[in-house]
Amino acid sequence: MSLSSSVLPKKVQIVEVGPRDGLQNEKLSLSVETKVALIDDLSSTGLTRIEAGSFVSPKWVPQMANSDSVLAQITRRENVRYSALTPNMKGFELALAAGAQEVAVFGAASEAFSQKNINCSIKESLARFETVIAAAHQNKLPVRGYVSCVLGCPYQGNVAIEDVVEVSKRLIDMGCYEVSLGDTIGVGTPLKTQTLLQACLQEISHEQLAVHFHDTYGQALANILSALELGIHIVDSSVAGLGGCPYAKGASGNVASEDVIYMLHNMGIETGVNLEKLVQVGRAISEQLQRTNNSKVGLAMSAA
Ligand code: HMG
Ligand code: MG
Repeated sequence: MSLSSSVLPKKVQIVEVGPRDGLQNEKLSLSVETKVALIDDLSSTGLTRIEAGSFVSPKWVPQMANSDSVLAQITRRENVRYSALTPNMKGFELALAAGAQEVAVFGAASEAFSQKNINCSIKESLARFETVIAAAHQNKLPVRGYVSCVLGCPYQGNVAIEDVVEVSKRLIDMGCYEVSLGDTIGVGTPLKTQTLLQACLQEISHEQLAVHFHDTYGQALANILSALELGIHIVDSSVAGLGGCPYAKGASGNVASEDVIYMLHNMGIETGVNLEKLVQVGRAISEQLQRTNNSKVGLAMSAA
């Protein structure tokens, strides 16, 4: 297949997951004030979807323990939706009380990862999610679904495409308005990505599928491009390429938002995000975390 702009979407929606997926796996736990400043800075760049935290066990993921205070203290912009992860009813109730405008349930296509990440089987997780989704809908909150390990699992290795399709379809059937397909350990390559997406697209509309690549093996941008070619137009990314997953050893952060947006803008695809401003946000949070900025575009534009 040769690449032509006619097959690519004209607009892409960026889901900024840095404050959650990014910070959940950083060594330094940030203060509420610093997280609030990060989210407010991100919302000033034109991003419209920001994952602001998660309501999970503080024993399991201590970095997210102050998500309620973070959501309480951010300055909300009208055009921005602030979401949070909610693995169960306890998490959902906390997220609702904190004013999350969207919640996300997160499952896996790998049984082993489901056990390590949320301490239950895939089947049990889906039953929990059904209750969370019903409660969210009663409260008029949209629910996003995540499926982890769609291109490989740190514990079980290969993951069958049928398992990814099945869990994704179940989440949509249960009422998730969108499913984000997570390459949790960043092992996917473009052709594998397309094969997986083609199978998912047999069952789920491209409007309801997002892609979520960790950049562990440096394949994320190539994978995103291969997804765009199939009409996918919702992409998760993390400012400065922050983070990783606490239950996937060696997994690096999400693809950097700056890198995705640079690629998109320079292919004539709109995101509504001010890249210069976002680069400044990435530089500032990297300094706060005393870590290298994992966005190549961030580094290049800071040096220029
Ligand atoms: P569990 O231990 O099986 O739960 O944890 P439990 O129901 O038996 O409860 C045990 C204790 O946890 C109790 O407290 C509960 O109150 C408390 P205790 O009586 O011992 O003091 N508890 C909670 N506290 C706060 N919030 C809650 C909550 N639920 C129970 N929601 C649980 C089950 C799912 C909670 C646990 O396994 C957990 O928190 N896991 C963390 C999962 C996580 O955050 N992983 C990272 C995010 S997923 C990800 O990064 C992948 C993604 O980015 C996509 C991709 O890249 O693939 C989305
Ligand atoms: Mg992730």
